[in-house]
Amino acid sequence: MDFFSKSFIPTTKETPKGAEAKSHILSVRAGMLFTPSAGIYSYLPLGYKVLRRIENIIRERMNLAGAQEIFMSALQPLEIWQVTGRDQTLADVMIKFKDRRGRNLCLGPTHEEMITEIAKKYVSSYKQLPFTLYQIQTKFRDELRPRHGLMRGCEFMMKDAYSFDADQDGLDKSYDIMFNAYNDIFSECGLDFISTSADSGAMGGSVSHEFMVCAEIGEDVMFRCLDCNSYLRQPGTCSSCGAKLEECRMIEVGHVFKLGTKYSSLQGAVFLDAKGVQQTLIMGCYGIGVSRLVSAIIETNCDDSGIIWPKSVAPYAATVVVLDDSLIPQATALALELKKYGLDVLIDDRKESAGRKFNDALLIGNPYTLVFGKSFKNSEKIELEDRRTKEKMSLSQEELLNFLKKSYNV
Ligand SMILES: Nc1ncnc2c1ncn2[C@@H]1O[C@H](COP(=O)(O)OP(=O)(O)OP(=O)(O)O)[C@@H](O)[C@H]1O
Ligand SMILES: [Mg+2]
Ligand SMILES: [Zn+2]
Repeated sequence: MDFFSKSFIPTTKETPKGAEAKSHILSVRAGMLFTPSAGIYSYLPLGYKVLRRIENIIRERMNLAGAQEIFMSALQPLEIWQVTGRDQTLADVMIKFKDRRGRNLCLGPTHEEMITEIAKKYVSSYKQLPFTLYQIQTKFRDELRPRHGLMRGCEFMMKDAYSFDADQDGLDKSYDIMFNAYNDIFSECGLDFISTSADSGAMGGSVSHEFMVCAEIGEDVMFRCLDCNSYLRQPGTCSSCGAKLEECRMIEVGHVFKLGTKYSSLQGAVFLDAKGVQQTLIMGCYGIGVSRLVSAIIETNCDDSGIIWPKSVAPYAATVVVLDDSLIPQATALALELKKYGLDVLIDDRKESAGRKFNDALLIGNPYTLVFGKSFKNSEKIELEDRRTKEKMSLSQEELLNFLKKSYNV
């Protein structure tokens, strides 16, 4: 439970300069982010809460899938990149420098080379396989066009996982497990998404899938069949039903690859199989744009008044608007009761006009607004408004508790 009057939530009516995307405008207006320069973001309390909730959904699913969490350094010696040649192929996006001891370093744009070094050092036998490691960590990329807020940053949060197997069959299994976990993660985040097989570009390897969310600001183009809801890479007619395809823009939120031995062979990450024969580790890598997800969720869950958070990632279960100072104790008592069920609310106890409070509740976009006002004074009824459906109800404290418990499944 937090009191708005004591919280650092700098909401504003002003549209940030140069912002075009709804998600960018709303995330800044809702006081989630501070941006000193394009592509560079600091998370304020509300933004950080949402980021943390998304991270935790990912973390739970990764752990369930048997992946183990690690945390690799953002600082990386350039030598490991020289082995794979990606100091050249990724030169444009890599942020490089020399430290005072003369070491050539970079801030990791990704971590395939680093994880392969780890496997090379510690894996020697088939008995140690398979395993999957993951991290949720900051990546640095000198993006040419950082834009749309968290959608494309020069510093952003990624979940990257890496699987290590003894053979192709093993990789296929590890890949399927991650693929299924990704479906669960994006569903749980409240996203309408598709997965599509993709060209694996700079990462190499033969099989890859992208997870995409349809939105105007997306940078990938696909072609959608409105009749049977299939998505295709090529324009023309639908391969399933023959209908004409319409162009649509997609946001890439995740990408999974079967790398095979692309990195392990170049870096010499090998092991001895059951017959004592030396083999090369078979790898997969699996990325999610964690901070980009914040944008993708807002972009596809908002209206003219503000954000409409899915319950799973909302900063608070509800905003409690208190219209009369004398009702703060009752609102606080309700919040404490809700806390017993793990439901955290934001109590708007500020000395602001009712209009400002309602506008901010819509802007911040918690799933419910609960109002302590006239009808509480007259008949102890709390008004509840559903942020998404706009449905309104007038409920006693007990009815409200039951309603929220049911709604949040607690
Ligand atoms: N600059 C960025 N800012 C925020 N998220 C990013 C950025 N670049 C990539 N991501 C996210 O990280 C995930 C894994 O990174 P990967 O290297 O596969 O991305 P990418 O192919 O370079 O993405 P894009 O085509 O959008 O540049 C992507 O699926 C995307 O969701
Ligand atoms: Mg990129
Ligand atoms: Zn079709």
